Amino acid sequence: MKLTLFTALFALIALATSAQTIRSGEIWPDTDGRHINAHGGGILRHGDTYYWFGEHKSDHTSNALVGVTCYASTDLTTWRNCGVALAVSDSAGSDIERGCIIERPKVIYNPQTGKFCMWFHLELKGQGYNAARFGVAVADAPEGPYRFLYSQRANAGRWPMEFDAEALAITDTLDIAHFQQWWTPAWHRAIGQGLFVKRDFEGGQMSRDMTLYVDDDGRAYHIFSSEDNLTLHIAELADDFLHHTGRYTRVAPAGHNEAPALFKHDGTYWMITSGCTGWEPNEARMFSAPSIWGPWTQHESPCIGPNANKTFGGQSTFVLEIKGETDADEPRFIFMADIWRPRHPSDARYIWLPIEFEAGKPVVKWRGGLTLQ
Ligand code: GAL
Repeated sequence: MKLTLFTALFALIALATSAQTIRSGEIWPDTDGRHINAHGGGILRHGDTYYWFGEHKSDHTSNALVGVTCYASTDLTTWRNCGVALAVSDSAGSDIERGCIIERPKVIYNPQTGKFCMWFHLELKGQGYNAARFGVAVADAPEGPYRFLYSQRANAGRWPMEFDAEALAITDTLDIAHFQQWWTPAWHRAIGQGLFVKRDFEGGQMSRDMTLYVDDDGRAYHIFSSEDNLTLHIAELADDFLHHTGRYTRVAPAGHNEAPALFKHDGTYWMITSGCTGWEPNEARMFSAPSIWGPWTQHESPCIGPNANKTFGGQSTFVLEIKGETDADEPRFIFMADIWRPRHPSDARYIWLPIEFEAGKPVVKWRGGLTLQ
């Protein structure tokens, strides 16, 4: 009995101490003492509270058996489980039927409508990763409940905005039957010219790994891996933040980028991504641009230190901007990544590391502990 009391006391002290420091790669207990289950996540600040949305992962499958979870915090370190924000459906045939795949949910607030808008990567039940859709849900309160609205592929019937008359004339000449073999120089050139954009023009562009970004002027964007994960698309959202406007641009055609995370520092847009190796970690990539519409320039990985060439064992999911108390205070940025555990998905871990700027460029250095106060 004494021993049990002692153990409980120790656990409480350990919980209280660990609550002050974020320990990348370790179990991160919520206020109930349970490892946070919000993977591929993103964070929304509303009022004084931060809301962390992510994929609920089960012990034996990465398929969605529960839905999107939400946690709340005022210090970014101690998180309270607010439960399921978007629940999977039990109706057979629903786009979000239990057993589908829901990944990388992100929520933004629309000040014009007062609604919380959730976007996520959706794969239909039993179809592997073939559907390649985005899904949209909406709520009146940050923690939900979110009401599923629709899912589809992106920007059907629309060409990227940089495709002028000359570029469109080239797409007329592209015949997919001539490019059955991937990665040849001719195939590479054709991908750049829009071979797969043309292939998917009628049905809409593929939409997998994704994030959302709200710019200073209030415009919002959906950034996602498209064209068989070969090319990123950045698509503008309509005023309601629940649809695309049809304006979009392509980044790094045939560059094979996933897991995009976007932020802006001193007027420059930065994007951290990963390569495409499934649940296995690979080296992060980084891009910058003077405008959301580009041109996007690739840089070296921002990661420095042991295991940096594998993104410290993780894959990017979001960059959290912590605004200063006053406008004069510099914002801080946290690089958020997932260390996947595909054989025990719920045991996946989190990486939260500060982004520092050296010679104007973001760098991310490994540290076991991060104290935010
Ligand atoms: C990763 C992707 C994850 C998930 C996984 C499935 O590359 O970033 O979100 O889709 O592949 O293998």
